[in-house]
Amino acid sequence: MTPQSVVVTLDPGPALPRFRHTPGQRVTFCLDINDSSCFRSYNLVNALGDLPQVAVKQVANGGCSQMFNEQLQPGDVLKVAPPTGHLYDLSLDHRAHHLLLFAAGSGITPMFSVAQHALKARPDHRVTLIYANSTARSIMMQQELDRMAHSKRFEVFHVLGDGATGEDLSTGRLDHAKLNRLMEQYRSSDLPEAAFQSGPDGFMHLIQEAASNQPLPFRVKRYSFAEQPFVHPAENRTEGADSEVTITVNGVTHTLPSVSRRMTLLDAADEAGIAMTANCKSGICHRCKAKLVSGQTFQSPPVNAGRRPENGWILCCQERPGSKKVEIEVG
Ligand code: FES
Repeated sequence: MTPQSVVVTLDPGPALPRFRHTPGQRVTFCLDINDSSCFRSYNLVNALGDLPQVAVKQVANGGCSQMFNEQLQPGDVLKVAPPTGHLYDLSLDHRAHHLLLFAAGSGITPMFSVAQHALKARPDHRVTLIYANSTARSIMMQQELDRMAHSKRFEVFHVLGDGATGEDLSTGRLDHAKLNRLMEQYRSSDLPEAAFQSGPDGFMHLIQEAASNQPLPFRVKRYSFAEQPFVHPAENRTEGADSEVTITVNGVTHTLPSVSRRMTLLDAADEAGIAMTANCKSGICHRCKAKLVSGQTFQSPPVNAGRRPENGWILCCQERPGSKKVEIEVG
């Protein structure tokens, strides 16, 4: 790893089967830092089937990242919830594809996971990674990427903001002109393509804009902590795709007339500007617990089913609307 990041291998013991993951999934840690609980999610970067691994970049004033980078010792015991999230559709492996990946900074971790999986899943998948960093020192997973680049089916193109490469295309901030040239150079003409990206919002917006303006426009699937586009059968019910959600917080009632069944109740409340208490967003802390007054909800993906609260209560960060009307009460 770089001097600023570390790869940590976890040994879940008999719980290992619960840590099997798909590319781009993450796990959430509950860490005790300075006498308080701190929840952090990190992407899994291990090859599928190996022990779970996370890559943690040290950030300024980041108590959790500092703990991983400076204090953690082999054999230490950590509290961690099983993988969540959904990025990579495994049906892509039914036939050969070219995976075109865009990453910036620590956004590399889900893209690394996708690349690693794709190379292993089929001998005829090809992967191109365009990876932007401010300096060569901030490149994460460099050794691992160099190792993967021994494969003729994997190519990584680094873009460095500080001008270290001296070459026009790989130097400075990514912009439309550079992206147009890169897409011209790297898009596949012989294989169907699937594109993914991960990084700050501005970066992902730029990539999607450039992709949409190509002579053959294409969609670049975004990695996002919030996005979990798992489709549950409840979404196919005849009542329609959206629900009316009524949320009462501390005695004040808000009605959201149209909430997508792809959204958690917590995200729906956030989007509507309703202040709800939440901490881990992973079903661990139970700070987002609410009473289900009427209607139905569902967990999606149903990975945390073993940790649901008692009957009649739900965790808003885990549950999505499952009936035409849903009413919950918090506080
Ligand atoms: S925010 Fe922690 S369980 Fe929902």
